[in-house]
Amino acid sequence: GAHAAAALTHRPSGTGRQLRSAVPLPEPYTVPLPVPPVLAPSGTSRGADRYEITQRRVTAEILPGVPTELWTYNGTYPGPTVESRRGRPVTVLHRNELPVPTVVHLHGGRTPAGSDGYPTDLVLPDGWAVHDGAHMPSDPRAVTSRVTREYTYPLDQRAALLWYHDHRMDFTAPAIWRGLTGMHLVRDAAEDALDLPRGERELALTIADRAFAADGSLAYPSLDPELRERPGVTAAYAAGVLGDVIVVNGAPWPAHEVDAVRHRLRLLNASNARHYRLEAVTDDGRRLDLVQVGADQGLLAAPVTHTALPLAPSERYDVVVDFAGLPPGSRVRLRNRLGAGRTRDVMAFRVARRAYDHSRIPEELCDDLPVWRRSQATAVREFAFRAGHTAQGRGWFVNGRPFDPARTDVRVRLGAVEVWRFTADVHHPVHLHQTRFRVLTRGGRAPLPHDAGLKDTVSLRPGETVEVITCFDGRRGRYLFHCHNAEHEDMGMMANLEIV
Ligand code: C2O
Ligand code: CU
Repeated sequence: GAHAAAALTHRPSGTGRQLRSAVPLPEPYTVPLPVPPVLAPSGTSRGADRYEITQRRVTAEILPGVPTELWTYNGTYPGPTVESRRGRPVTVLHRNELPVPTVVHLHGGRTPAGSDGYPTDLVLPDGWAVHDGAHMPSDPRAVTSRVTREYTYPLDQRAALLWYHDHRMDFTAPAIWRGLTGMHLVRDAAEDALDLPRGERELALTIADRAFAADGSLAYPSLDPELRERPGVTAAYAAGVLGDVIVVNGAPWPAHEVDAVRHRLRLLNASNARHYRLEAVTDDGRRLDLVQVGADQGLLAAPVTHTALPLAPSERYDVVVDFAGLPPGSRVRLRNRLGAGRTRDVMAFRVARRAYDHSRIPEELCDDLPVWRRSQATAVREFAFRAGHTAQGRGWFVNGRPFDPARTDVRVRLGAVEVWRFTADVHHPVHLHQTRFRVLTRGGRAPLPHDAGLKDTVSLRPGETVEVITCFDGRRGRYLFHCHNAEHEDMGMMANLEIV
């Protein structure tokens, strides 16, 4: 595990310092909102859809008129959206044309371990030897590598917005920053049966922050432009990297034209480290309700109404906003109350016209949510997410230890119900692979309204203790749990979970 803590000399700080872009930035709400392309299957066999994705570098304009090199899935940032049906398997063949090894993880997927994107299961660039030493962890037996890799996703899980992203050991954060994220929407009959807004009235939104260097490249606190070495451990890196440009679906502070009807927003915080507190505000200062209908792992039992909604890195919220009653020409801004200056702005909706609204938000959204009771739990486990240090230096650790692929941190029985109690020093969004959980308590009290439903990521606020309850009813195998502040993750705040 020494690699994970190597060369960390700065004391990690809980509040990131924001990088400043060195190029002119556009006025907010002048760039149209892009909709990422939906990936078409390259074929269908034995009831499964087969997709192909090539990971490659492109030069694209995120900021108008400013060419920026990106690392992409199929040439776009975000990558193409995969749309799948519950219970219908999907395979994705990834080919790596990037200069570095990669790993693909479907976040929120209940995936067999061999396809889950374990951080040492690499997709190598063409021409790389399997045991090229430079990028391997300390235990070479832990590494499996290929030039292409086919990932298999059974998707026997509820309709939800999942996302896929890079997960290579120690290098996830810079790879995500450079563009390796995409959305994956699982659909099912239960969701179809509801009259939630659909078609153009359903928008999947990848929200992230970035910063741009004077030459247009993405700024990142790294010493090596190819990231062939460990990123320089500056204070800005250690706390989690923050940019000064808010990018939605790959466009800075975009604007989108809408009918004056309900819209369903599938919100994903794909930022490395930035937290948001979103609200929808009209130009005359009125806040529209954000009616939450789903969480990370799908529909809630019943809607929950918010006026502001916190979004930690990797969390998803499924909300309905009603633009009815707003006169054509009016504007609604999605604003970030945690931002300062330009990072308060996120995107805007311009009401174009009145229209008929077929949608409805039912009082009961679903009745199939599992209920786990504390009395069923066969174990209560404690995990401290804190800064730490070893002889090699400082990092971010779980229970005092940096990630080590050769160590099993927790072994749980398939089917066991357990309570996991997390504590935090600073803000840490904690994510479990393979499972979904409910928040039981937050700060010793009842969960907050936005903790509702089935989740796979829970935001621990500074100093807070959060208990979640879960049933490990997925699959056997070796999985992970970790902080989803991507820099914290790379600095060791990750652990192995073995389901047996
Ligand atoms: Cu979004 Cu372990 O990942
Ligand atoms: Cu963290």
